[in-house]
Amino acid sequence: MDVTSQNGDSSCRNIVIFDTTLRDGEQSPGASMNLQEKLQVAEALVELGVDVIEAGFPIASPGDFESVREIARVVKGSCVCGLARCVNADIDRAWESLKEAEDPRIHVFLATSAIHREFKLRMTQEEIIARAVAGVQRAKGYCSNVEFSPEDACRTEIDFLCKVVEATIAAGATTVNIPDTVGYTTPQEMTTRIRTLIERVPNIDQAVISIHCHNDLGMAVANSLAAVSAGAGQIECAINGLGERAGNCSLEEVVMAMRTRRDLFKVDSRVVSQKLVPTSRLVSKVTGLKVPRNKAIVGQNAFAHESGVHQDGVLKERTTYEIMSAESVGFAKNDLVLGKHSGRAALADRVKSLGFELTKEQLDVVFDAFKRLADLKKEVYDADIVEIVDQATNKHATSAAADWKYVSYRLTSGVDDEPSVKIVLSHENVEKTVESRGGDGPIHVMFNALQQVVDFPLTLKEFKIEAVSGGSDAQGSASALLEEPNSTRVYRGRATSTDVFEAALKALVDAINRVQRAHSNS
Ligand code: KIV
Ligand code: ZN
Repeated sequence: MDVTSQNGDSSCRNIVIFDTTLRDGEQSPGASMNLQEKLQVAEALVELGVDVIEAGFPIASPGDFESVREIARVVKGSCVCGLARCVNADIDRAWESLKEAEDPRIHVFLATSAIHREFKLRMTQEEIIARAVAGVQRAKGYCSNVEFSPEDACRTEIDFLCKVVEATIAAGATTVNIPDTVGYTTPQEMTTRIRTLIERVPNIDQAVISIHCHNDLGMAVANSLAAVSAGAGQIECAINGLGERAGNCSLEEVVMAMRTRRDLFKVDSRVVSQKLVPTSRLVSKVTGLKVPRNKAIVGQNAFAHESGVHQDGVLKERTTYEIMSAESVGFAKNDLVLGKHSGRAALADRVKSLGFELTKEQLDVVFDAFKRLADLKKEVYDADIVEIVDQATNKHATSAAADWKYVSYRLTSGVDDEPSVKIVLSHENVEKTVESRGGDGPIHVMFNALQQVVDFPLTLKEFKIEAVSGGSDAQGSASALLEEPNSTRVYRGRATSTDVFEAALKALVDAINRVQRAHSNS
């Protein structure tokens, strides 16, 4: 059965979707996002229809605090949550960042398993319960919506877990989350654990049971579905399955599993499934973490049929080999390419089918950019349009008067030639030319030349370039990650161009501007 609509079926229980892309997801190595990117993701999550957005861990750093506060200020229509340990300073800081939210939640956590009690916390069971209760009570003093997580719950002795859950609900927790912190449990064990909590905790009906599964053994989605079938009412998950180590339960997979198999699970969510692909693309873009082609639901191959037998079947009747339609998760209806003769109406239609809703003014900007690109490139693909729309509509994009602007470049490079580059930039309307020679190749020589415009040393930690779409005239999308020595902060620059060296250069300049802005704000 193809299910494309949102939850309108009264026989289905609604599951609360708690998205942790901006907190646990951001803990994925290399996935750090800046404030502007987090705001963009938060707004996409609201559009997607998630119920709760875990925006960050406010005590972790001033940057985390600032982003939770900004998200709390701007987000309307979803609950905004901040994480805190069961420590007064954490909880106070979390509230400070959340207090302007339309619908705030404080999420407090404390580890409960024997391994964590003995080696990490050096606390007895009694001390853990007292600390957890005090944490919930302090959070409750600020906010009626409080979630408690016994970290490593799935390796916690069940009798002790029941006591912790009962005590924290009695202290005021409105959601109790059962994290499989290390991705150790299995669907069968999960079912038993949730059923036991429901049977043995006398006040369990006063809170929503939540689940938070890590994917170390590849079972995060299956474990989350097992928990829901056993009675859990909230799933914690992340776009593209981002999260610590192997990641969290993937939002797009768990949401589509519930929707496609409503007949079996009898649950659904209010997620707008057609926004899944655009949101996945956005998160991939801002984190620089590519979605594998064969990733379920949002991977490029998720609806591609290679075998002749399958193609024949799908052409005769789509459901022979597809359990969902590509459009139901936000892939465009067909692969028709646009070109320089395509008109505004064709572009508007394609933009809409890609999941974007633009104002007339935004569409004007997108149409101009589309025409410029179509002059350079014969065929404009969906991926090109997504890039254009993204650049034209990112209202959080920042720039400063003191930013460097790329003007032009001249590069010489070859297998037997020493690379050399001459780059023209402009700074506060004054042009400056920087040159460099030598190094390992074009990117290295460009980076060396650009070092001359900043008076602090930088390291190029990562550099990627990939084609935005198919075709020999495809645009190149470059992403550069810069790091300052003795600092853990990284700055990602990105740019797209039909000339890959220009894209590389613009991405480097973008990253340098981000470092410079951070310096002038500190
Ligand atoms: O994995 C985990 O246990 C967590 C908690 C903070 C909920 O991320
Ligand atoms: Zn986690």
